[in-house]
Amino acid sequence: MSEIRLTINGHERGFDGVSPHTRLLDFLRDQGLTGAKEGCAEGECGACAVLVARPDGEDRTRWTSVNACLPPAVAFDGQEVVTSEGLGTAPGPRGPGQLHPVQREMATRGGSQCGYCTPGFVCAMAAEYYRPERSSADAPAHDQTGTDVQGEEHAADHECGPNGFDLHALSGNLCRCTGYRPIRDAAYALGEPEDTDLLRRRQEEPAPKPSYTRIDTAGARFVRPADLGEFFDHLEQARDEEQEVRLVAGATDLGVEVNIRHVRPPVVLAVDRLDELRTLDVSDDRIEIGAALSLSEVERGLGGCVPLLDQLFPQFASRLIRNAATFGGNLGTGSPIGDSAPVLLALGASVVLASRGGDREVPLAAYYTGYRESVRRPDEILRAVRIPLPLADHAAFHKIAKRRFDDISSVAVAIAIQVDDAAAVTSARIGLGGVAATPICAREVEEALIGQPWTRETAVNAAALLARQGTPIDDMRASARYRSAMLEQSLLKFWAQQQPAQAQEVSQ
Ligand SMILES: Cc1cc2nc3c(=O)[nH]c(=O)nc-3n(C[C@H](O)[C@H](O)[C@H](O)COP(=O)(O)OP(=O)(O)OC[C@H]3O[C@@H](n4cnc5c(N)ncnc54)[C@H](O)[C@@H]3O)c2cc1C
Ligand code: FES
Ligand code: FES
Repeated sequence: MSEIRLTINGHERGFDGVSPHTRLLDFLRDQGLTGAKEGCAEGECGACAVLVARPDGEDRTRWTSVNACLPPAVAFDGQEVVTSEGLGTAPGPRGPGQLHPVQREMATRGGSQCGYCTPGFVCAMAAEYYRPERSSADAPAHDQTGTDVQGEEHAADHECGPNGFDLHALSGNLCRCTGYRPIRDAAYALGEPEDTDLLRRRQEEPAPKPSYTRIDTAGARFVRPADLGEFFDHLEQARDEEQEVRLVAGATDLGVEVNIRHVRPPVVLAVDRLDELRTLDVSDDRIEIGAALSLSEVERGLGGCVPLLDQLFPQFASRLIRNAATFGGNLGTGSPIGDSAPVLLALGASVVLASRGGDREVPLAAYYTGYRESVRRPDEILRAVRIPLPLADHAAFHKIAKRRFDDISSVAVAIAIQVDDAAAVTSARIGLGGVAATPICAREVEEALIGQPWTRETAVNAAALLARQGTPIDDMRASARYRSAMLEQSLLKFWAQQQPAQAQEVSQ
């Protein structure tokens, strides 16, 4: 067993006797750090939020907010975590017992009543307070209704205050009693971190490196291999021992299974810090995105160069979840309602599967073979996602869910089409989620669109065909009829979005 330790609020703590399935939240609370609370245990409420020091390039650190109720504590071996207690009592210029600026604003502006949610809000708010790109220059870009200054509606809105504070940083935090206006007031009242602020200064140093970790206790094993070669060693060892192996990256799916369904995999292999899975390369003919980059890292790294992904990110869970969740985990679970698959299908993406023998590339459209089944062999890992370039000029992602943000899709539709100078469709890709046992491509509709003039009549005919795709079912999220109707509407909406003057006419 390796000597494993975690730095919490500047103090090192050991993991002696800690089970591989003990969550970070329980570990912190067992240390007497009871600020972080358990509300839902499934990543929905943010009462458990803490800050973790994550890499920001090679040389800097980014304070990143995550839910502590989902990941195992041992996944933070060698890392640095700050809790709400640490914000208020960090040694240094503020001095023990003094309030951090986010705590002070929450207190003085009435942002806390019963206080149960407050430590989580404070940590998510602190991450945004320290976000290096936060600037008052962001402020006028969007008003608070999700409409830009030209009056055009965007799915990918950020709602920034006069200080550049993006309110969506708090989208994973729920409060039952205060009401959100005082919390927003507190967020928008924050200034810049002072030069003497220790957490700001910590950002100028590199983040802790991932460390090799192995812990065997209570009939369970957690391993963080140092590299991909070692990952295959551990995979083979577990298979030789006939042990069931689960991979874990951001733990936003696996953590829910552990908490709610009491799943206890005997061997857990952590893949989120493997360098081979954390590449982000943009070349002339493709973009390769490492399967273990968090969605927030991908969003920052791409800097808006894939507009369809920029529509996906804000509609995918909350900032707290996106700070941990990965494409590898989203595609790896094979969920038919995962949001990344429809978007990646519309982008014509493929997945790179790595094994001891090397890489193989499989079009995402050929990846899924049945409900939560794929062509990935047990000796393979999803290493990266590849998106071919150039991208289509017109694209949209429509997520139909019961809430606009932080909800699971009932239906998801991603559309990307190219239209030539004569207004004829030259390429069409449509990815669908929530209407079959796997994410699917609407091949029939794609073929029907190609070569057609991009007119209202074409859109109406294609929308009627789209409504007949897949094999939607009735379940607690939506009826089959509703799902089919939403398919049809999404293509009409897509067409209307590009023809604002005709939008009314089409929807009649
Ligand atoms: C509150 C909440 C909201 C959510 N909202 C959304 C949403 O809006 N849209 C959506 O699509 N999902 C949503 N999810 C689901 C989840 O966040 C995503 O599926 C996420 O992408 C999973 O990534 P992860 O790294 O956390 O996966 P993990 O939990 O770490 O892993 C899940 C499984 O994926 C597999 N896996 C992980 N990495 C790899 C790899 N590199 N190769 C092969 N297999 C791998 C393993 O089987 C692993 O057990 C939500 C989850 C929560 C808790
Ligand atoms: S306890 Fe609700 S998100 Fe963690
Ligand atoms: S202050 Fe009571 S839940 Fe937020």
